[in-house]
Amino acid sequence: MRIALGSDHAGFELKEELKRTLSEKKIDYKDFGAYNEESCDYPDYTEKVCSAVLAGQFDRGVLVCGTGIGMDITANKFKGIYAALVHDTFTAEMTRKHNNSNVLVLAGRITGKTLGVEIMKKWLETEYEGGRHEKRLEKIRKIENKNL
Ligand code: RB5
Repeated sequence: MRIALGSDHAGFELKEELKRTLSEKKIDYKDFGAYNEESCDYPDYTEKVCSAVLAGQFDRGVLVCGTGIGMDITANKFKGIYAALVHDTFTAEMTRKHNNSNVLVLAGRITGKTLGVEIMKKWLETEYEGGRHEKRLEKIRKIENKNL
């Protein structure tokens, strides 16, 4: 599995911790920035990560900003990106099983490093269940295609 990572300044520190975990678990990733804590704009890094996932270069994306909200809103503007802002491991599991989310968004100013790592691990290891959820995702795709 290949992971595209991105953050703004407020998510930088947690992203560094996520990178350490990915390296330990020998999961391939690319960090699309930000590369330091200088103030920057979260849509820029969201765009880089979501474009790379949609281009098929990466299987999934992980984004971190301060609250997670700005990156989550931005990511979900991309057709084919299903981004989930997650604060707990239960939701991390459910959003993979039920929503087949392909981008995880974390809140660097809210979620501590240990919990952030646990959320990412749960999200990465959980498979989509399909079945009854597929018709619901199909409805999302229909709505997506209506919004020109
Ligand atoms: C940056 O100050 C902050 O607005 C950003 O990280 C994020 O929380 C936006 O939703």
